[in-house]
Amino acid sequence: MEMEGVRDKLRRPLQDLRISVTDRCNFRCQYCMPADIFGPDFAFLPKAEILSFEEIERLAIVFSKLGVRKLRITGGEPLLRKHIASLISRLTKIEGIDDIGLTTNGVLLAKEADNLKKAGLKRVNVSLDALNDDIFKKINGRGAGSKVVLNGIEAAIRAGLGVKVNMVVQKEVNETEIISMAEHFKNMGVTLRFIEFMDVGNTNGWNFQKVVTKKEIFDRLAGHFELEPVDPDYFGEVAKRYRYKHSNTEVGFITSVSESFCSSCTRARISADGKFYTCLFASKGHDLRAILRTHQDEAPLIDKIRSVWEGRTDRYSDERTEESARLKSKIEMSYIGG
Ligand code: GTP
Ligand code: 5AD
Ligand code: SF4
Ligand code: SF4
Repeated sequence: MEMEGVRDKLRRPLQDLRISVTDRCNFRCQYCMPADIFGPDFAFLPKAEILSFEEIERLAIVFSKLGVRKLRITGGEPLLRKHIASLISRLTKIEGIDDIGLTTNGVLLAKEADNLKKAGLKRVNVSLDALNDDIFKKINGRGAGSKVVLNGIEAAIRAGLGVKVNMVVQKEVNETEIISMAEHFKNMGVTLRFIEFMDVGNTNGWNFQKVVTKKEIFDRLAGHFELEPVDPDYFGEVAKRYRYKHSNTEVGFITSVSESFCSSCTRARISADGKFYTCLFASKGHDLRAILRTHQDEAPLIDKIRSVWEGRTDRYSDERTEESARLKSKIEMSYIGG
């Protein structure tokens, strides 16, 4: 197909912006930041290269003028960034932004939940891959049990934040946790989303055999619960949602491998050092920091973002093969924040 044709077919509105505020994390999840690669000598970004809150705010204002309505703060682990609540508070004041969420591993949530809520945060998505401590310790690479994350979740609920839990499912790693996680969060009335293990980055040893698909997970759940589908809330919603019958509690699936959703991909991503990515699996970003640091006016930023977005043809998950997973050079998940 001609390039123009591909572009026309893929014309996708720019609706969401995911902002990474740090590339560091206090976990070393096997599927994201394997400890043998992200060890004590790993070169994380130096402070001078990381966008200041003022720079992030300027970017968010420009993106809001280009149509973004929803912001998500990510990392690495975003709660490691000092004074993160004050960033949230600046972002809530931007005209046109009507939803701000944050994705966290939950470790620092018990400490931060009240501050975040007061700053205007609406929702947190908390990653938790197992309740069983032996399994969870292996996955997070730091020997943390699930209790610390569960405490974080409870604190967030008490603070009045909306909470969803993300569980990345991997073959022979945490499949045995599917039903106990579903039961636990159903009883708490918290939405749990099962995420298919993805080949982000070049270090997580991904292959198709390690993926547990939505269908497999759904079939297991169907043996224990009655589920009914829930319609999407908006164009480009990532999770496929279901409700446990006779309740208001939902469960979701993020099917980037078995049922990709590139044709409705509305998300832009900014790394902590100000690079703009239009795909989670990109090799290369577009430097917005240089523009931010040389021009005070918005016009050059607006032009750059618009031309990158309008020219995007990426649809990695639609086209994924074992070969592309192995051979393509891709940014790491911890760097771009999912
Ligand atoms: P809400 O639905 O607004 O709560 O947020 P979200 O699900 O988009 O955000 P979250 O950070 O919780 O991401 C959940 C999972 O979805 C992560 O594994 C992301 O990497 C994955 N995800 C989100 N957006 C995309 C996308 O555009 N492409 C792919 N392949 N995966 C995505
Ligand atoms: N595949 C799927 N999801 C992943 N996440 C991190 N690495 C991967 C991967 N390889 C999830 C985290 C978090 C979200 C932002 O992305 O668990 O919930
Ligand atoms: Fe784990 Fe998230 Fe940290 Fe990656 S960024 S190591 S998924 S907690
Ligand atoms: Fe968007 Fe890339 Fe994910 Fe497809 S693979 S949905 S283009 S981020």
